Order: sequence, then structure tokens, then C-alpha cells
Amino acid sequence: MPPVSGQKISVLVVDDIAETRENIRKLLQFEPDIEVVAAARTGKEGVTLAKQHRPDIILMDINMPDMDGISATDQITKDSPVTQIIILSVQSDPDYMRRAMRAGASDFLTKPPSGDELISTIRKLAEAGRQKAAQLAPGMPSQMMGPGGRPIPYAAAFKPEGRIITVYSPKGGVGCTMLATNLAILLHSEENKAVLVDGNLQFGDVAVFLNLQSPHSFIDLAERAQELDSEVINSVLVLHGSGVRVLLPAPRPELAEEINAAQVKAVIEALRREFAYVVVDTPAGLTDSVLAIFDVSDKIVLLTTPDIPSLKNVRLFFELMDQLDYGEEKTFFVLNRADKRGGISAADIEESLKHTVAAQIPLDDRGAVLLSINQGVPLVMGDRAKAAPVLQGLLDLAQKLKSQMEAPEAEAVPVPAKEEKKPGTRPRLFGAPK
Ligand SMILES: Nc1ncnc2c1ncn2[C@@H]1O[C@H](COP(=O)(O)OP(=O)(O)O)[C@@H](O)[C@H]1O
Ligand SMILES: [Mg+2]
Repeated sequence: MPPVSGQKISVLVVDDIAETRENIRKLLQFEPDIEVVAAARTGKEGVTLAKQHRPDIILMDINMPDMDGISATDQITKDSPVTQIIILSVQSDPDYMRRAMRAGASDFLTKPPSGDELISTIRKLAEAGRQKAAQLAPGMPSQMMGPGGRPIPYAAAFKPEGRIITVYSPKGGVGCTMLATNLAILLHSEENKAVLVDGNLQFGDVAVFLNLQSPHSFIDLAERAQELDSEVINSVLVLHGSGVRVLLPAPRPELAEEINAAQVKAVIEALRREFAYVVVDTPAGLTDSVLAIFDVSDKIVLLTTPDIPSLKNVRLFFELMDQLDYGEEKTFFVLNRADKRGGISAADIEESLKHTVAAQIPLDDRGAVLLSINQGVPLVMGDRAKAAPVLQGLLDLAQKLKSQMEAPEAEAVPVPAKEEKKPGTRPRLFGAPK
């Protein structure tokens, strides 16, 4: 692989054990495009060296004297948002992973990592970091960006638009709301705030899943779709204990009739100007509103369960995606309630549908998911031991989704050139817009 932007990928190793630092150096020494520029023995020293070297990548231990890896990660990412931090830890404890991710870590590897795994993660993240630097400083050619994306002062003045992530399944009851609520919380941080939108305007469940109540709803924003500024938006959103803000659906199903697809689109686009992540939960039916949400989405997280009725609908959905001219990279296909006992594996699904399963969430047979819904406490904030396998799946999913969204366009699967279409001439699937 060619070196990133003609420069070597600079790496800082932070670990209190000399042998580990040495082993990592050895693993990386024969890679022509990677250079270990410094090594630190404590979290504090790591923060200082990160400022000094502004490395592309930091390999960070968790348990260290004076300042642990998670606090160090938190400080470094505040200072240098494009430096990518990979946490290396002996335990793959979901609690650690969650805290590391919230502090701003980009990936998590179990110690000791294999050479291949370490090298490919470093390369992937270095490229993602460079893209992020280029995005933060538009108009500046990316080859002018130094390691670690140096032009920070310029970047700080620029507020990029957030990502819209829509969770959808063409069959009800497969776990969309469970995923959307937990995903929003996992993506949310002080620096990169998330908003969760209940796009199931008639029978949305988000308020129940998060135990929220509010006199305000989607209706208040839809009515003012042409004049949505920060103040209007924030007066309608409800704050959840996780820090995520939530837009609730119509309080009664018949009121949802008043909201049209153009308004839904305007509301979601206004939210992306205020938040780093807009996570939208949707109902199973394909209404004009749902199609409008798809149109503005950066990613559609498409959910299936390993059963024939759900897979049948997913097949139809993929056909539709083709008709709508959505590129392959727009969907992020997820298998929920993965369970060997039903006789259908992720590999079987990939083989049959010719689409990659990007992430899997195992079937929870300990009752943790159901309990979390009934108590209104999201899994990622509840009894972690009980929910461990599902949490692991959710964390892995959030991580992959994040890195896919940060991945350079150039790496996307090349789509064969299609006849150019004028805007607004995509095939209509349903009646005229309201
Ligand atoms: N991984 C899982 N393991 C076990 N049960 C799950 C899992 N994911 C979701 N469920 C269950 O599936 C049901 C439907 O979930 P929900 O999020 O409401 O789906 P949807 O929004 O797609 O209708 C819930 O009762 C929930 O407990
Ligand atoms: Mg739902």
C-alpha cells in the first residue's frame, strides 16, 4: 500500500511497560509507510508527546500510572481532533470499550495484537484521519495538511454538517428502535453531539424505550419547517440522561397525518446543521416520509433477523435501492438476533442476497433487551454484565459504522457509470408527493 499522502504515517506508542513498547516497535519496523516517532510511559507523558509530535496515530494502553489511557485519550482528542487513537487492552471489556469510544478513541484492539491486525488498523485509520482533516479545512488541498492534520486553528472555525444515520427494516419487530436508541447514545459525546429522531410518526416507541415525556413533538418543528433555527429546534428537543437530545413523534397517531414528506426532510436537514450525528428510527412501511428520510441519509442501517420472512423483505428492499439509484455504500446491513440454532448464518445470508453483513448483534437469551425496554433504560446504560454479548455487538457496530463514514470516498466500491438523470426524475414508487 502506498504511504498516506506521500508521508509516512507517524505513530506514538503510549504504554508503561517497556517490553510492550519494544514489541510494537518491532512489529512496525519493517513497514515502509509507518514510523514510530515517539513512545511515552505514562498517560501524562503521552499527552505532552502528542502535542509535540501531532502523530497520525496513537497506540494507547489503558492501565498506566498517573493518568490512564482513557483520560489521556479524552485530553488528546480535544486538542487534536484528527489524531486517531487505537486503544490496546488485555481485556475486551465492553465497559472499557464504551468509555474509550466516548473519550474519542477510534478503535480498540486486544493485546497483544497480531502484526497484520495492527498494521491494517493503523493504515485504515490514518487514511480516515487525513480525510477528516481535509473535511475540517475545506478548500485546503489535503496534501498541504501535515501529519495529524495541523491546520487546527482554521479547522476550529468551521462547523461541518452532521451525518444522518437511518435505522430501517422492511419488517417490524426486528429491533430498529432498540438499535437506534443505543446507537445514538454510543455515538454521542460532548464534542460530537447526537440527536435521535423518532421517524415513526404515528406509532413511535422511542419515548417508551428512553422513558421520556414532553409536550413538544415533531409537529412543532414540521409546522415551522421554513424557519428552523437553533433556538426553535432546541425548544422542541427533549434531553435524555445520556446527553442525547430526542425529537418525539406526534403525540397521537391521527396528528401524524398533518406532517408531509417535505417537512420531514426539512426538519432532518435542519438537525444535521446542529448535531454531529442525526440518528433516525423509522417504521417498517415505505411511506413518502420514509423515502424522504432515505434521500437525505448518509447511511441506512438496514436490519434483518435470520428468518425467511424478514430476509424475503430485505431482498425486495435491496431491489428497491437499485431502482432508487442508491449506491451500494449507502446501506449498512446488520443481522440482529443472530443465532446458530435457526439454521441461517450471516454467511448464508451474504451468499443468498449478495450483500455483505457489515455487523451482527447476537440473540439475547438472558432477557436483557426486553428488561431494558420495559424499564426504559437503554442497554448501554443498564446492567452491563447481563447485556454483555449484545453490548459487544452494538459497540462493534457503532465502531464500524463510524469508520465507514469517515472512510475516504475513493475507497467506496466503484459503481459502474449510469445514465445521468435530471434531479427529481427518479422513478416514482408511490403517488405524487403531498
Ligand atoms: N438482539 C436481540 N435479542 C433478543 N431480543 C431482541 C434483540 N433485539 C431486539 N429484540 C426484541 O425485539 C423486539 C422488537 O424490538 P424493537 O426495537 O421494538 O423492533 P422494531 O423497532 O424493529 O419494531 C423487542 O421486544 C426486543 O426485546
Ligand atoms: Mg420500532
